[in-house]
Amino acid sequence: MFVPKITYISFQEEVFEIDVPVGESVMEGAVRNGIDGIVAECGGSCLCATCHVYVDEKFLPLLPAVDEEQDAMLDSTACERLPNSRLSCQIKVRPELDGLIVRMPEYQK
Ligand code: FES
Repeated sequence: MFVPKITYISFQEEVFEIDVPVGESVMEGAVRNGIDGIVAECGGSCLCATCHVYVDEKFLPLLPAVDEEQDAMLDSTACERLPNSRLSCQIKVRPELDGLIVRMPEYQK
């Protein structure tokens, strides 16, 4: 079965290419593989903003619009919110997201 690859880049420019099954979130893929840089304190409930990532611009059109809940949480990220800021727990992996690149902020809390 096809498993999309997600690339996570740390603030220190370390690159991690991880197979993340369809249906899993970008946050879950990171946590399951022990990637530092995504803390995910709330476990994916859109309540902590410690799964903040910067999504590579070319993938933004493939992501669902930021809903009200995520928008509010993105206002409380530890590092600066940018137009490409997203909560990685709110990005569900789909086959079209194969090759997705996310950058992690310097710190999460
Ligand atoms: S894991 Fe808490 S908001 Fe994403």
